[in-house]
Amino acid sequence: MAHPTAPPPTGIASIGIHLPPLAMPVEELAGLRGEEPAKYTVGLGCREMSLCPPGFGVVELAEEAARRALARWDGDPSRIGLLAVGSESAVDMSRPLSAWVADRLGLAGAVRSYEVKHACYGGTLALRQALEWRLSGAAGDRAALVIAADVALYAERDPGEPTQGAGAVAFVVDAPDVAAISPLSHPWSEPQFDFWRPVGEAFPRVQGPLSLECYKRAAVETFRALVADGDAAEVLGRLDAACFHVPFPKMVKKAVYAVGEAFGWSEEDNAAFYAAKVEPTMGWNRRCGNAYTASLWIAVAEALAGLDAGRRLAAFSYGSGFGAELLTLTAGPRAAEAAWRDDVEGDLARREHVDAAAYTRLRGAEKTTAAGEPAAG
Ligand code: HMG
Repeated sequence: MAHPTAPPPTGIASIGIHLPPLAMPVEELAGLRGEEPAKYTVGLGCREMSLCPPGFGVVELAEEAARRALARWDGDPSRIGLLAVGSESAVDMSRPLSAWVADRLGLAGAVRSYEVKHACYGGTLALRQALEWRLSGAAGDRAALVIAADVALYAERDPGEPTQGAGAVAFVVDAPDVAAISPLSHPWSEPQFDFWRPVGEAFPRVQGPLSLECYKRAAVETFRALVADGDAAEVLGRLDAACFHVPFPKMVKKAVYAVGEAFGWSEEDNAAFYAAKVEPTMGWNRRCGNAYTASLWIAVAEALAGLDAGRRLAAFSYGSGFGAELLTLTAGPRAAEAAWRDDVEGDLARREHVDAAAYTRLRGAEKTTAAGEPAAG
């Protein structure tokens, strides 16, 4: 049966980003942990970790990113009919993070408001749901506010500690002024315990080498699906950028090489693809660290910034457990304005650098702040 009305043109209408007010160079952490700094900077490809001061967390990140995205959107806030927050830093097991954000933004009424959890993949799922809600016709003329926000902290001395970070990216999903998202995407999932956080525990448990293998396998399978019967060099050559979830930049390089290997590319082909299409998307990620659900979207925001309308990029989302999905996006007329670049540059310029002693105090303070205590609305 034909759809009664054509689905409205849909995609990302505006972007807002927020990064926390503190950061520490990974060399400081290396000194504190007795590691060679090159293990973190070269071995993992990390540069700085974003950190949150006491009293500042995922709610503040999500709220400010959303305010920034809404401020850049031409629509009336009363048109927001869906608010979805993807996160694995929930402050409550029942009340969705979206309720904290809605409270602060004054969003109430005929709004479907909820939280999405699937490790680092949750933000992408929220975005896909908003897109498909609009394309299904169920949204009518209403728009969605989607937020990916997380604070990534590992236990002190955990091998994941140098990859820590935090941040939030918010989108208004409405007309594709900034980017259109293809309705066709390529998911891949397998149940695994590569990285997980049991209920009541503050920090994740990780099977490091397994997590690397799962990530690479998901990248290979989803890129295979994207290329399908085509020629890989030709299909991927048409992309201006290939963005990845960035747990740490070296992971992305390993995955790109695994994908290239699966297509029978030479070492030189892999290196050229990585240098031209992937490495330039991770400048903001290196300054911020792993922001879980937000990491991929920070890379996408950097790749989209300044892109001419019609240019294409791929976005590989990975969440432990594990679920992955490869999306393709096309830059819209307002990508060239890159308005959200001010968010990142402003936050980076304003943030304070902490040293190892201050970091140790911060980790101590975090133990005395009740985990999961809801922030006042
Ligand atoms: P590790 O075991 O301490 O490190 O932790 P390593 O010994 O494997 O060394 C890391 C790299 O540094 C190696 O390079 C070393 O050779 C190199 P590689 O051989 O792999 O290319 N190295 C040096 N390089 C230069 N100079 C030196 C030096 N020393 C060593 N002196 C691990 C590494 C990734 C396991 C750890 O950081 C970790 O557990 N991270 C967290 C898990 C993770 O990020 N996994 C990624 C995939 S899963 C994912 O992306 C999902 C996630 O975001 C969560 C979610 O979905 O919610 C994590």
